[in-house]
Amino acid sequence: MNIKKNRWNEPAASDITDYDVYLKRRDFLAGGAALALGSVSGLALAKEAPAIPSPTWTDLVSSNLSIDEKKTSFRDVTTYNNFYEFGTGKDSPARNAVGFPDNSQPWKIVVEGECDNPGSYGYDDFIKPYPLEERIYRMRCVEGWSMVIPWVGFSLSDVLKQAKPNSKAKFVEFTTLYDPDIMIKRNVLDWPYTEGLRIDEAMNPLTMLAVGLYGQELLGQNGAPIRLVVPWKYGFKSIKSIVGIRFVEEMPQSAWMKAGPTEYGFYSNVNPDVPHPRWSQSRERRIGELRKRKTLMFNGYADHVASLYEGMDLVKNF
Ligand code: MTE
Repeated sequence: MNIKKNRWNEPAASDITDYDVYLKRRDFLAGGAALALGSVSGLALAKEAPAIPSPTWTDLVSSNLSIDEKKTSFRDVTTYNNFYEFGTGKDSPARNAVGFPDNSQPWKIVVEGECDNPGSYGYDDFIKPYPLEERIYRMRCVEGWSMVIPWVGFSLSDVLKQAKPNSKAKFVEFTTLYDPDIMIKRNVLDWPYTEGLRIDEAMNPLTMLAVGLYGQELLGQNGAPIRLVVPWKYGFKSIKSIVGIRFVEEMPQSAWMKAGPTEYGFYSNVNPDVPHPRWSQSRERRIGELRKRKTLMFNGYADHVASLYEGMDLVKNF
């Protein structure tokens, strides 16, 4: 995402795969694999769009928070990814996160900090109390591309209420697993990847924890087994593969803020009027489409979230 070399040894511009380059490379690889193997195989290499594997959930209720827009293909959603712990190419996570998280330690999620009911949970116990639903959301990356993804999950607020935050809980900090045995060891960022939300942002009904997409459990490259989705903010706020949720009094520094404090703000709300130093944010490329489209304030979710920022200078608080 960040194309400047700095102390965290972030990826160079050449590491960031443009969508057209990605498509060419994918089809080239698929052709090569077909020649070598006599058949086309493998999710990342498949020339034909991979069928959506049999759904894990078939009786999901569709949320009234869903949008009615054409969904990005399952193939693009699962092969064009940013998950730097598994490499910086757009197709790296789909290749390098095969088998994740089963090839890591048993999943544990710790809820802690300024709350009356902290806890440490295995994955199944963590999600058991919450009914799952499908939510079709836009996702807008700061790199200028976007998708429409049918997530499966529930509101983060359900988990936060259960933890009973106290009056000091002003922000929530999230942490991704860092497992150097299976993830890259290069310091692209100061691992583990962390992110944060103000408590009212975290409690907003739109903010969700996703455990699946297209009716099936998340694949490693999309942040299995559980990730955040905050559709009115740039995609990097939607932290993947969460192992920690902590209530804190002070605004947390995210991994991106530490890496580039002048480029990545805490809020990172989608805002077509506030350019990133290297990417204008006024337009975006919806993956799978040729023409660019105008970017909408708060990624089209202003009715739900504009009131959270009333009276705030959104240029200063970028
Ligand atoms: N979470 C972790 N732990 N590591 C990452 O590199 N990339 C972010 C976000 N969450 C990232 C992450 C970025 S930049 C984006 S755009 C989205 O994940 C991409 O999600 P997707 O690959 O499922 O589309």
